[in-house]
Amino acid sequence: MKNIDSYTHTRGESIYLDDIPVVAGTLYGACFDSPVAHGKLISIETAEAAKCEGVFRILTYKDITGENQIGGIIPDEPLFADHHVHFCGMPIALVLADSDEHARAALHKIKVNIEPLPVITDPREAAAKGELIIPPRKFKIGEVDTAWAGCEYIFEGQADTNGQEHLYIETQGAYTIPQENGVIRVYSSTQGPTAVQRAVSKTTGLPMHQIEVDVTRLGGGFGGKEDQANTWAALCALATHVTKRPVKYSLHRMDDMRMTGKRHPYSSDFKIGLDKDLKIIAYEATFYQNAGAAADLSPAVMERTLFHCTNSYFIPNVTATAFCCRTHLPPNTAFRGFGGPQGMFVIEAAIAKAADELGIDATVIQQNNLLVTGNELPYGQKVVSEANECWNEAMARFEFEKTTKAVETFNASNKLYKKGVAIMPICFGISFTNTLMNQSRALVHVYTDGSVVVSTAAIEMGQGVNTKILQVVAQTFSISPEKVRVNSTNTYRIANTSPTAASAAADLNGKATLIACETILGRIKTVAAAELKVDESAIELKDEFVYANGTKTEWDWKKIVLTTYNKRVSLSEHSHYSTPDIHFDKTKEKGHPFAYHVYGTAIVTATIDCLRGTYEFDSVNLIHDFGTTMNKIIDKGQIEGGLVQGIGWMTLEEVVYDKNGKLRSNALSTYKVPDIYSVPKEINIGFLQTQKDNLAIFRSKAVGEPPLMYGIGAFFALRNAIKNFNPEAKTEFNAPMTPERVLMNLYAKKLVTV
Ligand code: MTE
Ligand code: MOS
Repeated sequence: MKNIDSYTHTRGESIYLDDIPVVAGTLYGACFDSPVAHGKLISIETAEAAKCEGVFRILTYKDITGENQIGGIIPDEPLFADHHVHFCGMPIALVLADSDEHARAALHKIKVNIEPLPVITDPREAAAKGELIIPPRKFKIGEVDTAWAGCEYIFEGQADTNGQEHLYIETQGAYTIPQENGVIRVYSSTQGPTAVQRAVSKTTGLPMHQIEVDVTRLGGGFGGKEDQANTWAALCALATHVTKRPVKYSLHRMDDMRMTGKRHPYSSDFKIGLDKDLKIIAYEATFYQNAGAAADLSPAVMERTLFHCTNSYFIPNVTATAFCCRTHLPPNTAFRGFGGPQGMFVIEAAIAKAADELGIDATVIQQNNLLVTGNELPYGQKVVSEANECWNEAMARFEFEKTTKAVETFNASNKLYKKGVAIMPICFGISFTNTLMNQSRALVHVYTDGSVVVSTAAIEMGQGVNTKILQVVAQTFSISPEKVRVNSTNTYRIANTSPTAASAAADLNGKATLIACETILGRIKTVAAAELKVDESAIELKDEFVYANGTKTEWDWKKIVLTTYNKRVSLSEHSHYSTPDIHFDKTKEKGHPFAYHVYGTAIVTATIDCLRGTYEFDSVNLIHDFGTTMNKIIDKGQIEGGLVQGIGWMTLEEVVYDKNGKLRSNALSTYKVPDIYSVPKEINIGFLQTQKDNLAIFRSKAVGEPPLMYGIGAFFALRNAIKNFNPEAKTEFNAPMTPERVLMNLYAKKLVTV
């Protein structure tokens, strides 16, 4: 089934925040944000700006009616800077005017006096100065300290990954409209409607029931709107609360890039030990996470780095330590993979380093250490699937030996172009690592004409979750998809929502939907059984007809629905689902945090131009563990999109802050995202269909984040290609591998005559 949004998307009829018809009297917001990364805020002068054309009012921290606080996990983030500024882009004042242009024009007249303080942008420097947002965390299995003695080979090194701009096509924004009795309706481009509701409640001082958050869809979120949509919603809602006027704020691209956090850059140290059979015996990793100026979701992101620090490998002795480092960058936040990719990059780097030193292919070490059923991960959960299922299938289906032979032949006969291959296996845990968030609710109404509407907490942001929810309804009732409508996500219909994140939205909300539909279906069957005078167990609904004892009756869906209503039996249900069997004890750093794991293996082949340092990806051939996919088109789209986004992170995308904490890559002219030319020339996706994981909705495994991590293979494929040109290059594990870096490495310590 096609994505249900594809029709309105292609016609340009889909409604995003900025498409909502504007109500008369709407004020437009624009933020004056800190030009300094760290300093004492001595004064804010708004008098001149207030005189500008169309300006209605200017708000600062003094106008906050509740608490000046929007921190989600830790209360460490003011909405408006009050006495200090902590990052360039921190909101200081909000101009409200009769148009977007007038609001923005007035910003130029605002003056601030800031006494600069020292700026830290480097996480290691922050850690050295004790600037930690939470105490360090340590995951441990076995005894690393004694394990080194049993190792034949030990290697150490450093591995760094940079940030990544989310670049959702729809920028951040909110539109708030006053209702009667002081209620505020908040339209927000958010992945977390309840997070927005809480932030608005806290900053305005209104109870949560005074705040209705409504989301139709997002033009992409990628984690960037899990927490960071709160700011704009809180600003608009505060303005509405104070002025009693509708307030709209839809960020321009450069404002969005400057003022919002990104994927966390990490700097990490590793030490890896192998025995003579190339089994990894010991692994030690230390992660320095660049959290930015406030906690945001950093502690949770850091936790997932630890969860995925051994990727798809079984290592009996592991100590992994992570530091959540406070710097003066905009608070970094969730981004597809949620810290997992940063952890996986380091173990892959450690394996590559070992392979370099031993003069063998990394694939030999990778293959030799893949997880098998029963292996225990450093956090205590045992795996129930085989990581090598995908690996073996990928090797066989895509004839890996042939690929490497072809690459060798190519490299032997080409001087100016070199190819490299790398394999990237993945193992990604599904569930929120914060166990309590693994709950969901659904509201299903069947109307008397047989049409159905469903509401859940799921946010549609291009990943197709609404289509999957609709499929659950249509399949459970056995009715045509046309009879089902998925409603906007609304905190008055579904309360206390978990954000659409952790790739878990289809599972959590799909399962809740299933429960609601099955409950209603049970009632309908009871009525049908009474009408047809048969036992309830003999009743079945199939293709919009009632079947009794396997025989089609003349009772169609519409008739039985109307009869159920006439009998005064409820055709509505509000259901609750919570993932069973998951737990995690933070005091021991052990438990069973994930409902299941998603596996996969990608083979990435790259060609570099050795004169220019530019490159192309010839192919990505991958086998992905879908469980039993409920929607092949959507799942394939998630793989392709995730993969290309991962390749972008690892290769082209370079977030640059200068030493004063100012974002230099602040526009699409200075920040390169993948375009159609950066997409691999061939992407082949093999579906590994497994039956095991029944905690996935219809056994169709979560697919949103895992494929991003295939992109890590791109880094190592390029690195291998460089090695083929310049065997002396000691290419650092420092992503992104931009063409400039490729060029530097091609000629590192070597003068080549061609
Ligand atoms: N796909 C599209 N098109 N747009 C997005 O914003 N976000 C990703 C992923 N795929 C995203 C996407 C992220 S970060 C997550 S956590 C999942 O979708 C969330 O949706 P799901 O739980 O329904 O997979
Ligand atoms: Mo996704 S990073 O969990 O929003």
